[in-house]
Amino acid sequence: MAAKIVSVDELRQHKTKDSLYVLIHGNVYDVTKFLDEHPGGDEVILAEAGQDATEAFEDVGHSDEARALLPGMLVGEFEKGSEAQLKSGAAAAQAQRMSSAVEQGSNMMYFVPLGLLGAYFAWRYYATGAL
Ligand code: HEM
Repeated sequence: MAAKIVSVDELRQHKTKDSLYVLIHGNVYDVTKFLDEHPGGDEVILAEAGQDATEAFEDVGHSDEARALLPGMLVGEFEKGSEAQLKSGAAAAQAQRMSSAVEQGSNMMYFVPLGLLGAYFAWRYYATGAL
């Protein structure tokens, strides 16, 4: 049987203690029942809900025993190419900040020469009494 494909929406629908999926190395695991047993506590796993937990999982340096538990909790494969959407929360906010910073920058580019031009004419008017 082909592995079930888990969409971003489905992953996001399981973000609570009552039903929790985590994404690790492109696979989605149902850790609901495991939460209470996790030696690292439930909070750390809950904090990874709805996003890619691979980095958090690897940073801890989980043992082979820990890794061996994963297949038993497998829901399916995460939808290919959906990782980008996952980050959309944080990354989109970042992109938004970037573009508004760039926009502000380019507004400055516009006003500085205009200001200089104004200053030039003011000076000329002052110096010659005519525009
Ligand atoms: C769903 C997958 C996970 C499984 C099956 C799992 C399993 C385990 C197991 C068996 C241990 C005991 C030590 C070891 O054998 O390595 C452990 C420890 C730990 N885990 Fe996880 N874990 C999972 C996800 C996570 C995530 C997403 C985090 C996020 C940060 C995390 C954080 C920790 C920490 C901090 C410890 C160390 C606890 C201590 O030694 O005091 N785990 N985990």
